[in-house]
Amino acid sequence: MVFLNGKFIEKDKASISVMDRGFLFGDGVYEVIPVYNGKIFRLHQHLKRLQNSLDSVKINNPYNDKKWGEILNKLTKLHGNNPQSLYLQITRGVDVERKHSFNDLNPTVYIQSSSLKPKTKQELISGYNAISSEDIRWNRCDIKSTSLLANIMYSQKAKENNVEEVILHQNQQITEGATSNVFMLKNKTLFTHPIDNHILSGITRDLVIESASSCNISIKEVAFSIKDMLSADELWISSSTREIMPIVKVDNNLINNGNVGNTWECVYDNYQKLKNA
Ligand code: PDD
Repeated sequence: MVFLNGKFIEKDKASISVMDRGFLFGDGVYEVIPVYNGKIFRLHQHLKRLQNSLDSVKINNPYNDKKWGEILNKLTKLHGNNPQSLYLQITRGVDVERKHSFNDLNPTVYIQSSSLKPKTKQELISGYNAISSEDIRWNRCDIKSTSLLANIMYSQKAKENNVEEVILHQNQQITEGATSNVFMLKNKTLFTHPIDNHILSGITRDLVIESASSCNISIKEVAFSIKDMLSADELWISSSTREIMPIVKVDNNLINNGNVGNTWECVYDNYQKLKNA
């Protein structure tokens, strides 16, 4: 079952107009929200980010937070108790002609639930590889837009290179991953790019930052360079679907001699506690 414009229906019965601006222009925003033990994790934070995305592109939010909660909880229940990932997308709606500028339209709302299978600690402990690439995206990466062509190209490159992620840089500074935020640990200080228009403000990023104090590390929301990254003690990526993953190789360079560090384990364990609380 999926949710489309006010109705819960079978996925193969769900369809939208070819004049939907989401289809024609990628004119829409989205959220991905994990569900653990039947509970939507950090719903309030995701809805707040959704509101920011909608405001940035002048799409009216069709529902208040209470209504969103009801719809998302209902869809969650329809999918049982296993971990889920809710994908919700709001487009500007169906237009009468294909024109870049827009009038007031009824937003299209689509929500689906997929089963979520984050990697186990056993799998994560051996570490993952990444490649790096110049960040060619636009200057509003803070908007969680469905226009994702650049991110798609990076993710395909990751797949072709058999690596987990593409780590992006602008002017030699690491911004984020193609679909994740990036953290570097150096001398007990955790660095990550500050929240601005160059990155998406990850909900998992906030959770990593929250975990830092119980893992005896300090946090600096300060950009770090490619050179810093290659001499890092630890390097991680974070996202709602992948949680916190240790990266042990970037391009042909080993991080920490190819070993996953102890601080990753502490932050990972803390995240598991939070999501199961
Ligand atoms: N992506 N940066 C980018 C570019 C992302 O696409 C994502 C998440 C993140 C991490 O955000 P969060 O911790 O809130 O998931 C950072 C999602 C999972 C996706 O597009 O499927």
